[in-house]
Amino acid sequence: MSALGNAAFRLAHLSDLHLPMANMALPWRDVFSKRLFSLISWQIRRRHIHRPEILDLLVADLLAHRPDHIAVTGDVTNLSLADEFDRSFAWLERLGKPQSVTLIPGNHDRLVALAPDEGPSRWTRWMQGDDGSADFPFVRVRGAVVLVGVNTAVPTRLFQASGRAGAGQIARLKVKLAELGRHGLFRVVLIHHPVGKGLAPDRKALDDRAGICAAIAEAGAELVLHGHNHTAEFYAVDGPAGPIPVIGVPAASTIATAKDARPGKINHAARWHLIEIARTSAGWHTAVTARRLTQSGAFETCGRFAFDAPQAAFGIAS
Ligand SMILES: [Fe+2]
Ligand SMILES: [Fe+2]
Repeated sequence: MSALGNAAFRLAHLSDLHLPMANMALPWRDVFSKRLFSLISWQIRRRHIHRPEILDLLVADLLAHRPDHIAVTGDVTNLSLADEFDRSFAWLERLGKPQSVTLIPGNHDRLVALAPDEGPSRWTRWMQGDDGSADFPFVRVRGAVVLVGVNTAVPTRLFQASGRAGAGQIARLKVKLAELGRHGLFRVVLIHHPVGKGLAPDRKALDDRAGICAAIAEAGAELVLHGHNHTAEFYAVDGPAGPIPVIGVPAASTIATAKDARPGKINHAARWHLIEIARTSAGWHTAVTARRLTQSGAFETCGRFAFDAPQAAFGIAS
């Protein structure tokens, strides 16, 4: 039973899986594309950092906590190759049924321009709304919680990892958030790129971050979840009635090193968050448990915090 009681909705959040690419080759047409540079980066550095055995440990720990729903905020792949999408299906199916797993794409899932049937649209089972629509933002209601999936994955130039939602999607987001708010639901916005100002350098940032934030500030949301930076982040953006909490989770497949364990250093080790959401007489109470990989290979709780909405008591509780 949840510490918040049976009524709490238990949402697990993970991101940036960067699934392994062993034995994958580039199609000839990509030899002169951005994919070549990303493949070199993978071979030299990233394949030693993002490990399949770490991801297996994380998934085992996550599933042992029996969440009601799992949110994956993008960067499942590395080069958005057809073979990577093929392999991702089995991995996503291990997490749970598509109605219990919600996915949005990250920049690595659309590294280059792709035909409609080649890219993240292959994940429609995990990325469609309750109405069957695959348009973004899509809406999935699960009890009193609603997941609103935003797509910021667009192909970019070499050495760029920026994102863009686009004016049309932002306008639809504002309308949907306002409507869901009128229904009294706990609105969770899922977005790959951070929405906090200055949290990513320009070449990695969300180009229309201000537009997304303006939509959320006007229409409201109870929580925003993202990945992309591969670091843990907890901050707030403006909402119509006060600050709205935003949580960024580190990558799900990253090794734990001695450097990570040093005080004052950013810890990049694999992590996932258990977010327990409960309705209260005053609104909502949300408790977050951060589970992190240690050098021994075990996952441990590395932090707990809680906040209420309306956000009068917003802050770290413990
Ligand atoms: Fe990533
Ligand atoms: Fe990313």
